[in-house]
Amino acid sequence: MTNEWGPLTGLAGDWESERGGLDTAYSHSEEKVLETPYREKCTFKAFGPVDNGDQHLYGLDYKTAMWRGDEDNPFHTEVGYWLWDGATGELLRAFVVPRGITLLAGGIATDDATEFTLRAAKGEPLYTIGENRYLAKHASSLSYEVVIAVTDASWSYQETTMLVMDEFDEPFAHTDHNTLRRAG
Ligand code: HEM
Repeated sequence: MTNEWGPLTGLAGDWESERGGLDTAYSHSEEKVLETPYREKCTFKAFGPVDNGDQHLYGLDYKTAMWRGDEDNPFHTEVGYWLWDGATGELLRAFVVPRGITLLAGGIATDDATEFTLRAAKGEPLYTIGENRYLAKHASSLSYEVVIAVTDASWSYQETTMLVMDEFDEPFAHTDHNTLRRAG
């Protein structure tokens, strides 16, 4: 792989973590905010270029899944794409959370960046969040921010989703962080 993938170059491949993740969310079954440790498996496959007229994007096709302890079915999954536009430094993460949520988060980075931040907010013209009717009414995603750090042997994320929820008077910070190492 060449540096046509810019700051995404070091992410291609298979990654995992054993219980290093931590999720903070409101649990409806327990009726309280829970901090949940999780394990995760994540795969990034390189593709490109994708040409939009004069724009040439290189990307990673990704899927990730998280489990609590030894459970069989993941309690959270995502599928999507990371995209890099080397001409402008625009970095994108487009993904679906199968609760009926889609996100296009974006930011600007240098092609050798090892740390970068992507953001999206509901109603924004560029980097925005789509959600289903139920969530819009009862648990609406106001904003999303993720900070990524990449080293030779690992990568980590720290993400915050601000939710307007029936259960709280003020927006609630739903947070997740993890560090993943190369699988196998
Ligand atoms: C590592 C990533 C994530 C994990 C592990 C995770 C996990 C969870 C968990 C455990 C709940 C609580 C469900 C319940 O017991 O009622 C939850 C709720 C929720 N999550 Fe996430 N989440 C993640 C990322 C996201 C992202 C990126 C978004 C949207 C941008 C999101 C949106 C929501 C919403 C809207 C709810 C509330 C659903 C409801 O109130 O019924 N989550 N999540």
